Amino acid sequence: MTLHEFVHEHNADLGEPFAQVMDVLETFAKTIREKVSRNGLIEESGDSGGTNVYGENVQKLDAYADKTLTDALLACPAIHAVGSEELETPKTSGNGTGVFTLTHDPVDGSSNIDTNLPIGTIFGLYPKADSILQKGNTQVASGYILYGPSMLLFYAVKGSVNGFTFDPERQTFVLSYENVRVGDKKYYAINEGNWELFFDAEKNYLTTVKNSGDFSGRYIGSMVADIHRTLLKGGIFIYPADKKHENGKLRLLYEVAPLSFLMMQAGGDATSGMTNPLELVPAKHDQRVPIALGSAPLIAQYRSFSPKG
Ligand code: AHG
Ligand code: MN
Ligand code: MN
Repeated sequence: MTLHEFVHEHNADLGEPFAQVMDVLETFAKTIREKVSRNGLIEESGDSGGTNVYGENVQKLDAYADKTLTDALLACPAIHAVGSEELETPKTSGNGTGVFTLTHDPVDGSSNIDTNLPIGTIFGLYPKADSILQKGNTQVASGYILYGPSMLLFYAVKGSVNGFTFDPERQTFVLSYENVRVGDKKYYAINEGNWELFFDAEKNYLTTVKNSGDFSGRYIGSMVADIHRTLLKGGIFIYPADKKHENGKLRLLYEVAPLSFLMMQAGGDATSGMTNPLELVPAKHDQRVPIALGSAPLIAQYRSFSPKG
């Protein structure tokens, strides 16, 4: 079954506007796949020379993907507003027909683009509202595209997560992972290069994990890829607050809320400090938050190491 057929069959409750948004995402995914399949040969290779609102270097592919997706969404009648990690401020379509707001991280894992490692795109879909600053719990859907050896699109709606593999012969996504539930393997993923910046709670947790002999370490540095492995195999992904970064690195609207929503619909769990990240109302569109997400028992264990745990 193709993604297009699946959406019409299973998400009729979200109406034709939802199907239109998924069509935009599918078209965008094909465009980016075409680009990344020619890594090093395309004009969108390397650093753009610019920086974004987070002070991070913007790659040419970040800028290209951001413009491509944002423009396509603003041209879609279903969309009221768009927010992106790469935009200074969210944009409103002005079409008068839009019923959804979409937030996106157009290219996640930018530091891996040049080395041909997996990268992704993250999206969260919300009902139209006056402000883009909505709780993650109000999402009607969220998901990611993973550009790896195969291109995959996984998305969640309340209560279910399904995954699709792009078939280049048919030029379409085909259902390949039905009703996904988070796995039970014990992989831990964290950038341990930040060890000296970690608070004692993180250090104590990681020391316990390593001393247990039960865990294997895995860390790609592209959140989509790390979360995809965590979802399918099981484990825990952590990007904590530390002594230099009081809110960690990852962005609530563009990375944390969509992937936490998805993980929870697959039976997993997520925590931001001691708070459910989906209960946080973003104070600003570029807000960062600490995050741990993965299989529920591993998140429970992680919580027990928090000072307030
Ligand atoms: P982005 O490429 O959208 O800026 O996101 C990068 C993020 C995320 O993908 C990843 O989990 C994390 O940064 C890795 O950060 P470190 O290099 O600090 O480990
Ligand atoms: Mn990202
Ligand atoms: Mn990004």
